[in-house]
Amino acid sequence: MTIEVFDTADDVARAVAARVADALAARPSLVLGLPTGRTPIATYAELRRLHGAGRADFSRASTFNLDEFAGVAASHPGSFRTFMNTHLFESVNVAPDRIHFLNGTAPDLDAECARFEAEIGDAGGLDLQILGIGGNGHIGFNEPGEELVAATHRVTLADSTRRDNAALFGGNPAQVPREALSMGMGTILKAATILLIATGERKAHCIERTVRGPVTTRLPASFLQLHPRAEFYLDRAAASRLRT
Ligand code: PGA
Repeated sequence: MTIEVFDTADDVARAVAARVADALAARPSLVLGLPTGRTPIATYAELRRLHGAGRADFSRASTFNLDEFAGVAASHPGSFRTFMNTHLFESVNVAPDRIHFLNGTAPDLDAECARFEAEIGDAGGLDLQILGIGGNGHIGFNEPGEELVAATHRVTLADSTRRDNAALFGGNPAQVPREALSMGMGTILKAATILLIATGERKAHCIERTVRGPVTTRLPASFLQLHPRAEFYLDRAAASRLRT
């Protein structure tokens, strides 16, 4: 993995957005994997700005989002689909039929996961997967545990993850669904290139373990050590426990 450390979270956002814009320029039909969460908000803002300046053209790109809550309709204000509409899709020129999302209200959630996995394959696989990282080391909704699932699958969310997502559900963790659908570890690790973004002191400990610790299912992000093209974009606070 490569690690780049920037002074501020805004500097990280500018660097990641420029990296994505360059990838789009080099390969207009780029297949992008996209995260939600607080971390990528600044990156999406910067991508909107670059798009407005004519420097990020999504017209031939495809997107696949990492995850979605089970039982939550795309139109629900707390859905990740709503998040993506607000922060990116409504302001850039991604073709609506090339935006791919897990449907949390599909009648058969296992079949929905299989459909999504097949759709990624049909698109030729993910070229560039952007990731945040949970405070517990999760990527997508692949939570720490005794084992990890390779393909897109149903997940029971950790209590800490439900607390982290409470803002999307009126600030009440009890309102956050107990289940979600998520790309699996294999889905993510098959991406040709992975960009991981982490900012803030709260992520420093799990970044240290992710980069320096053993590869373990107890810290799903540690598997990124095995990926041939994983690029970490950190601010000084998130990198503060790394001795470089
Ligand atoms: P955050 O979440 O960006 O809101 O910290 C990251 C994640 O859970 O993947």
